[in-house]
Amino acid sequence: VASIRQQKPLGLGRAVLCAKDMIGDDPFAVILPDELLISDPPCLKIMIDRYNNTGGHLIAAMEVPKEETCNYGILDVKSIKNDGLIHVNSMVEKPDSNVAPSCFANIGRYILDSSIFNSLKNQKPGSGGEIQLTDAINDSALKTQFHAQIFDGERFDCGSKIGYLEANLVLALKRPDLSHKMRAIISNLLK
Ligand code: G1P
Repeated sequence: VASIRQQKPLGLGRAVLCAKDMIGDDPFAVILPDELLISDPPCLKIMIDRYNNTGGHLIAAMEVPKEETCNYGILDVKSIKNDGLIHVNSMVEKPDSNVAPSCFANIGRYILDSSIFNSLKNQKPGSGGEIQLTDAINDSALKTQFHAQIFDGERFDCGSKIGYLEANLVLALKRPDLSHKMRAIISNLLK
């Protein structure tokens, strides 16, 4: 494992750009670990299989409640196939619900073509004053394919306190070595 530290918190796009020399010219995955996704096969495995047909940029997406669009990159959808593959026009970073182009949110998994680095190099600060990966994907999607795969497993947004707590509870209840004790703790607390 090699690690690179982003020296200043200038945004997700800038963080990905820091890894440019390590990645080279191959497509690569970006995993935002505060999004915990549970499925079998895993989300990224499904995406890698998909990517062999789509190429370009492929991200994972899920529908979120309309009032939550301001927390996510939201997709402007061109078309959706039965197998959950979305042809994407563009993505808007954290739009208010009244201007969000859909309720399909990017859930923190990406497979990106290395052409993204050219767009990242030229990116100006966007939403929140940060260099946004979303903006760079939009720019480079003018020259390459941009798709999203709908994820239908379980998702926990561990970037919020309540999502992190929920993930711990739900996953502990599923583990044979923890579930019995966890149930006892919960039922005591609820008494
Ligand atoms: C980032 C991305 C956003 C994406 C989200 C998923 O935002 O910029 O497009 O939808 O992760 O969790 P962040 O949560 O880091 O502000």
